[in-house]
Amino acid sequence: MFGVKKMVSEEKITLDYSPALGFIKPGELEHMAERLRRVHQVLHEKTGPGRDYLGWLEWPLLYDRDEFTRMKEAAERIQRQSEVLVVVGIGGSYLGARAGLEMLLPAPAGEASDRQGVQVLFAGHQLSPAYLARLLDYLRGKEFSLNVVSKSGTTTEPAVAFRFLRRLAEEKYGRSGAAERIYVTTDREKGALRRIAEDEGYERFVIPADVGGRYSVLTPVGMLPFAAAGIDIEAVMAGAAAAYQACSFPELEANECYQYAALRQIFYNRGKTVELLVSYEPALHYLAEWWKQLFGESEGKDGKGLFPAACDFTTDLHSLGQYIQDGRRLFFETVLRVENPGASLEIPRMEDDLDGLNYLAGRDLGFLNEQVLRGTVLAHLDGGVPNLILNIPALTPYYFGYLVYFFEKACAASAYLLGVNPFDQPGVEAYKQNVFALLGKAGYEEQGVALRKRLENMTEVTGK
Ligand code: PA5
Repeated sequence: MFGVKKMVSEEKITLDYSPALGFIKPGELEHMAERLRRVHQVLHEKTGPGRDYLGWLEWPLLYDRDEFTRMKEAAERIQRQSEVLVVVGIGGSYLGARAGLEMLLPAPAGEASDRQGVQVLFAGHQLSPAYLARLLDYLRGKEFSLNVVSKSGTTTEPAVAFRFLRRLAEEKYGRSGAAERIYVTTDREKGALRRIAEDEGYERFVIPADVGGRYSVLTPVGMLPFAAAGIDIEAVMAGAAAAYQACSFPELEANECYQYAALRQIFYNRGKTVELLVSYEPALHYLAEWWKQLFGESEGKDGKGLFPAACDFTTDLHSLGQYIQDGRRLFFETVLRVENPGASLEIPRMEDDLDGLNYLAGRDLGFLNEQVLRGTVLAHLDGGVPNLILNIPALTPYYFGYLVYFFEKACAASAYLLGVNPFDQPGVEAYKQNVFALLGKAGYEEQGVALRKRLENMTEVTGK
């Protein structure tokens, strides 16, 4: 039980589902064992839907060591040349890098300055003119490099941002000088970005064809920005390899990753259609954003799927706490519990004790955070919300790699349990097609006329 476990476990992340036992019928989890064994077979024999996108499955063992060496050399060059690296990408080409940087750097990404690595900023993950204009202004006074990340090489948001950033780099450093500071991470063979990189002589890194965007953080997509920021990428891969081993057992009782997938399915079948990923460390905020994309795009299709949502506690206990405790009973929670937060702060004693907090004096702030976690888990259980606890020993590169692989495999297994293809995202295309049509892209003329007509009809009805 999480309440009495020792504070730092061995070098693995552990799943504790004891707080959820009251919501599971006796033997119910064990009954999933056979289904998980089949899912394991389908995954490892590569016979299921989306089988062409399983490159991530053995990636922690098989990744290209030469490319990693080249990435480290590029990272050193970026550190020598630049104060800032702008990573240009969206979705799977952005969230994993941001998640790792936020989890592993001593201050939120973009604010740390006393480290060996460069400051990493992001672009191309939205289309806000205000954001991009401020970024361009900031970069005018800095030495900077660019890492453009796009598997397809055609996604509108990063392509547009890259146009602005590339022009700025060429104005500042000249065309050949800019080419020495622009790094492209894309498909080995296809796409507009691949062609631009070749024409301009930008250094290229590969997103393997069999690794989809949301499964790509352990490839150069995340690893180049991490290395440039001074993060130990060997440790990230060691954590991923450890997770690979821990998650490699077909037997449910031996594999906590499959237990997590099975429990999600049990709760889903019981009408708990929203999973809340909860953490008490702000450094994990973007890990939850990455997790939302991983599970949302992998499972949400064919009218099925858990809705992945995230909360930052204790902050959100003062906003969403009421609903979680007392609103519609839609949820279960997965709590990311960090055993060693990496800092210790003793609560001071005050002579006057005007705030009445002297009863906590001498206690560590982390102790307080832990007691709030425990109290909240118990309160939410009483409110009918099953809780799972993922114990993370510390916020280190090793555990980042471990968490990424653990969730990737759990996600693939969950989607197969649900009966959907974990590796496609047909729904993401709908809005993209509409945008092309509304912007007047060649080939979309007819669709554009129809969409504008629909918009006019709406305006007539509402008068607005
Ligand atoms: O997971 C995915 O496949 C998507 O989120 C993509 O990563 C995202 O749409 C960006 O695509 P691309 O890397 O082709 O620019």
